[in-house]
Amino acid sequence: KETKNQLIIDAGQKHFGATMCKSCGMIYTASNPEDELQHVQHHHRFLEGIKYTGWKRERVVAEFWDGKIVLVLPHDPSYAIKKAEEVQELVDNELGFQQVVPRCPNKTKTFLFISDEKKVVGCLIAEPIQQAFRVLSEPTSPESPSSKECQRAWRCSDVPVPAVCGISRIWVFRFKRRKRIARRLVDTLRNRFMFGCFLSTNEIAFSDPTPDGKLFAAKYCNT
Ligand code: ACO
Ligand code: ZN
Repeated sequence: KETKNQLIIDAGQKHFGATMCKSCGMIYTASNPEDELQHVQHHHRFLEGIKYTGWKRERVVAEFWDGKIVLVLPHDPSYAIKKAEEVQELVDNELGFQQVVPRCPNKTKTFLFISDEKKVVGCLIAEPIQQAFRVLSEPTSPESPSSKECQRAWRCSDVPVPAVCGISRIWVFRFKRRKRIARRLVDTLRNRFMFGCFLSTNEIAFSDPTPDGKLFAAKYCNT
């Protein structure tokens, strides 16, 4: 059994209060069976990844020497939708997002990067948007050890610019990062989001980027 960090200390019971798992980072209530179950599930997915055994009718939109990208659309068979939801759950837990309901669930496109070990190692969730706000150059205040929340509060222009495609999630399995998987997901999205055209980087927008997401986006959009 792995060690846990007790964040809230209660007045007696041993398994009360919020606990953070040191291995997977999830915060949960150990006394709550539902929470515990959710943790066990997340813990396993976080460390082992999500298996993908293949579907009879899968929509392969790109192939590489180390894997392939499969696209899942809203009206796909339930096994495909379930897999996309399972991946989104892992991503949302990892990013600390609350369950967010997509604005247009019937227009969401999910791109899954499948490794040659038959695991889902990357995910990009995109939806159509009409406008976005440019991120302004970073506030020049001296570097301070800020929380994740602070780092997320980029200054944005209040003048909207037209955009076409919003990236609501982009994620790569922890042990597969810096192998250009995210880059290949975005390239494929630009190619496949609208029939017959290749979106420019000005037409795509990253929503609420994390520090990792911002570093990636900045690099991606400049090259
Ligand atoms: N730090 C600095 N530069 C980075 C980083 C980073 N953490 N990640 C990517 N880059 C830059 C690099 O220049 C990199 O090229 P290089 O490796 O040749 O130097 C270039 O971006 C391309 O990177 P990829 O290898 O394509 O990116 P990767 O597959 O590692 O995935 C991602 C990047 C998705 C951000 C990954 O780090 C991740 O899953 N992080 C945790 C989840 C997360 O924060 N996702 C973003 C949420 S924001 C949103 O969803 C809208
Ligand atoms: Zn855990």
